[in-house]
Amino acid sequence: MTTTLTAKWSYPTTVWAGPDRIRELPQACRALKISRPLLVTDRGLRDSAMVSRAVALCNEAKLPTMVFADAKGNPVSANVDVGLGVYRDHQADGVIALGGGSAIDVGKAVAFMIGQGRPIWDFEDVGDWWMRANPQGIAPIVAIPTTAGTGSEVGRAAVITNEVTREKKIIFHPQMQPSIVISDPLLTIGLPPAITAATGFDAFVHCFEAYCAPGFHPLADGMALEGMHLISKYLPRAYHKGDDVEARAYMLAAASMGAAAFQKGLGAVHSLAHAVGALYDTHHGLTNAVILPYVMQYNREAIFERMIVLARLLSIPGASFDGILQWVVAFRRDLGIPNTLNELGVPADRAEEIGALAARDPSTAGNPRPIDAAAFAAIFRNAVSGSVKG
Ligand SMILES: [Fe+2]
Repeated sequence: MTTTLTAKWSYPTTVWAGPDRIRELPQACRALKISRPLLVTDRGLRDSAMVSRAVALCNEAKLPTMVFADAKGNPVSANVDVGLGVYRDHQADGVIALGGGSAIDVGKAVAFMIGQGRPIWDFEDVGDWWMRANPQGIAPIVAIPTTAGTGSEVGRAAVITNEVTREKKIIFHPQMQPSIVISDPLLTIGLPPAITAATGFDAFVHCFEAYCAPGFHPLADGMALEGMHLISKYLPRAYHKGDDVEARAYMLAAASMGAAAFQKGLGAVHSLAHAVGALYDTHHGLTNAVILPYVMQYNREAIFERMIVLARLLSIPGASFDGILQWVVAFRRDLGIPNTLNELGVPADRAEEIGALAARDPSTAGNPRPIDAAAFAAIFRNAVSGSVKG
């Protein structure tokens, strides 16, 4: 057997899927022996009905619950540090991470770091650094996504920005994967169309890059392909009719599938989006959506055959790379997503810096074609100016 047939496959975790399953939150806490949860959520959800209901459900079940609602978009380590203080003050024994990717990442990082004695950066996803952790100290996590995008609810890592170096770091430990996920589509029906599109496109790019990443992982390939199929069908429905519960349920599933699939690897879209997000605080999913066609062009020769398979699956006439490229551009446009980074307020003047940051990003290892800082800078300039026309 050759080494290329050697791999490690990790399946996602337990998911309780279905409308209004948030009512089972107390049972989820009890199943994980959480009696004093810390509920970590986004700033924007602090006063929302869904957070109030989650807290009321737990309190009625005699599970005293504290809310920490200071997770910002593109969270930094200071957010985690404040959360750790609230966790200790409440004498919490587990985390409910409720919100978008940022809230879930901060929740996972708090649950992980509460039992560690080293700085968070010592657990970056490099080699076997995760073995430095004390696994007994990691608190249990219930994750409740309110967007269908990052799939962080089934992931084993948290993306936290180092505010000193302005780099997005992936903090990894297998036990950071939430033990129970409540995937309740009713929690996502209030998402505005623009956020629905941007987060949904993030899920699409997870599937796309995982599918194109090299490596022996037929399970991930299968999930990635079906994920893209579902997103092509249900994201426009969720975008145009936010209360379409069926579309919302399938989008939540597709987001989890994308995150499960990208254990195989991501690629240059995420490398660039991480760099742009770290410097300009742009929305992660939106940044990915803008960048995807520019990276596709760079990767053209390396992904040509896979695009034919994808085109057949999506019933795109002609089944070719160009067919998929045109479809992606049109799909993006129909979801109200701009064609250039310039339209997100990102100028081209720091292209060299962006290129260097992207080249160092761990996602770069999954790109199907070798790529260096200069190539990243060139793709970035194309994405700022809009070299791909719809
Ligand atoms: Fe992503």
